[in-house]
Amino acid sequence: MNLPRKPASPAQRAQAGADLRFVTLGKGCGQPGCPWLTWDLVSTLLTNIGELVTNARDGRTASGAPGGSEAFASIAEAALVIDEGRVAWTGPARHAPAADQLVDCAGRVVLPGFVDSHAHLVFAGERSTEFAARMAGVPYAAGGIRATVAATRAASDKQLRTNLERLAHEMLYQGTTTLECKSGYGLTVADERRSVALAAEDTGEVTFLGAHVVPPEFAGDPGGYTDLVRGPMLAACAAYARWIDVFCERGAFGADEARAVLTAGQAAGLTPRVHANQLGPGPGVRLAVELGAASADHCTYLTDADVDALAGGSTVATLLPGVEFSTRSPYPDARRLLDAGVTVALATDCNPGSCFTSSMPLCVALAVREMRMTTQEAVWAATAGGARALRRDDIGHLGPGARADLVLLDAPSHVYLAYRPGVPLVAAVWQAGELAAGRPPMG
Ligand code: NIG
Ligand code: FE
Repeated sequence: MNLPRKPASPAQRAQAGADLRFVTLGKGCGQPGCPWLTWDLVSTLLTNIGELVTNARDGRTASGAPGGSEAFASIAEAALVIDEGRVAWTGPARHAPAADQLVDCAGRVVLPGFVDSHAHLVFAGERSTEFAARMAGVPYAAGGIRATVAATRAASDKQLRTNLERLAHEMLYQGTTTLECKSGYGLTVADERRSVALAAEDTGEVTFLGAHVVPPEFAGDPGGYTDLVRGPMLAACAAYARWIDVFCERGAFGADEARAVLTAGQAAGLTPRVHANQLGPGPGVRLAVELGAASADHCTYLTDADVDALAGGSTVATLLPGVEFSTRSPYPDARRLLDAGVTVALATDCNPGSCFTSSMPLCVALAVREMRMTTQEAVWAATAGGARALRRDDIGHLGPGARADLVLLDAPSHVYLAYRPGVPLVAAVWQAGELAAGRPPMG
């Protein structure tokens, strides 16, 4: 469900922690210079945290249930204790309890790992020529998806796995501790099945997107393709997936086809999410709310009825500002959604066509600069919002009991994610309490 699946070796951990000062206390391993050997066995106190973003008020949600809050929350001059892969304690550093191991964060900010709830990482090839043409004035029309389908079908499992792992590690090193991954570039029963199976090697948040576009061999029979997706293709893929998605857009799938696919997915135990209202107004958002989808993604062209539907339902609006950046399109109106009380998430949509970034920090910066989200709203949306879009209450916040997925930045506050756009600020990343990535500090 998170990455990487394989535990880091002691050597990898040592490299990842090269810039951190660790002190082994109490029942540490006792071997000078080798705290790694007992990393999993001891509690760890991260102290001298300049700003600790918790997204949790007293570790409880507004409804009183354990989990993240509805809004950004942080503690100044804080500390956090990790025990058995979970957050055991947070609070002012001066009140911190003892732990076996101590990490001095040197006044820097710690926040929940980013939750990237929308990505397409199982593919082969690239489309930089298409991007260059777009930048020269050719509009994005999603037709390039078929070029990636051809390359993906021609690729070996090993090539697809290597590309997926490369991108997953790219994400990890930029602070993403949970990612969702869609199929959708196979579009045959066998190719979709291997896509979801490969995705499941890296994450538990796997989405079956057989209804991405109608492949060329079904150009004359789109209804036949819809039947294939909701029939044999779904049957082959459901065991690997948690979610089912449809690209509900003119040129892809209309409301009736999307409903047929999504309800078949529900009958197979999957929960819907919908690519909706990306290229123009349409039925996607309202269909998502009607079916109780976890998220409606893109939400670039919304009517008042769409916003009202989102505000009245439980579907998260997942905004993907990297797409508007990379297709030179108008950004979604995040303020309108937030002011209407809609829950907003931010994600990358990492894919070779409409947006080939794996960077959640870039999405935060774009959301702040281009969509007029506050820095607090954007960081919440990239962490707790993503968790909401994946219906997870163990991630996206750092209240006691949360999974210890956290990011240390070379910066004193979360504001720097937007204030220093494009700068690699991630100093270290923990997943389930284990140091998973890091690099030397900025000079
Ligand atoms: O989310 N909109 C549909 N799917 C992707 C684009 C995929 C592609 O262009 O290859 C998206 O933007
Ligand atoms: Fe997408």
